[in-house]
Amino acid sequence: MTKLTFAALVALTVTATAPAAMAQDVAAGKTSFNKCLACHAIGEGAKNKVGPELNGINGRKSGSAPDYSYSDANKNSGITWDEATFKEYIKDPKAKIPGTKMAFAGIKNETEINNLWTFISQFDKDGKIKQ
Ligand code: HEC
Repeated sequence: MTKLTFAALVALTVTATAPAAMAQDVAAGKTSFNKCLACHAIGEGAKNKVGPELNGINGRKSGSAPDYSYSDANKNSGITWDEATFKEYIKDPKAKIPGTKMAFAGIKNETEINNLWTFISQFDKDGKIKQ
């Protein structure tokens, strides 16, 4: 119920500024993000968990979430996260950052990756949904 209400809210917020197709992508991306939730938080008040919080990821330097203890591999990867780098990474994290401690096999489905990016990239560094 709470989940449904939130999805509806996200859908409504996005519909106000974007075409309906995008709202569907956001909802699908949010569902996909359930795969990340065990280790990552996003949104207002998001805290580091097993992995770093992911707010403001679009344009964020790898290894820069405050107070998170990264592997050297992640910290020194030199990546700035954006649509292209994220999409390549999430397909196969260990290929993009050899030695990462992110224990996640990756997501292969292009549509799912696109939806996931649409969902994640809407949060600014304070976890607010960008207008
Ligand atoms: C089993 C736990 C786990 C799961 C599941 C997981 N991650 Fe991670 N993730 C981590 C850890 C741990 C790191 C830090 C890696 C390091 O320091 O080497 C990380 C790092 C990242 C980074 C780099 C962040 C930065 O600040 O450089 C991104 C982006 C990311 N994860 C996205 C995702 C997404 C999206 C998903 C879901 C599709 C996901 N992760 C699933 C544990 C996880």
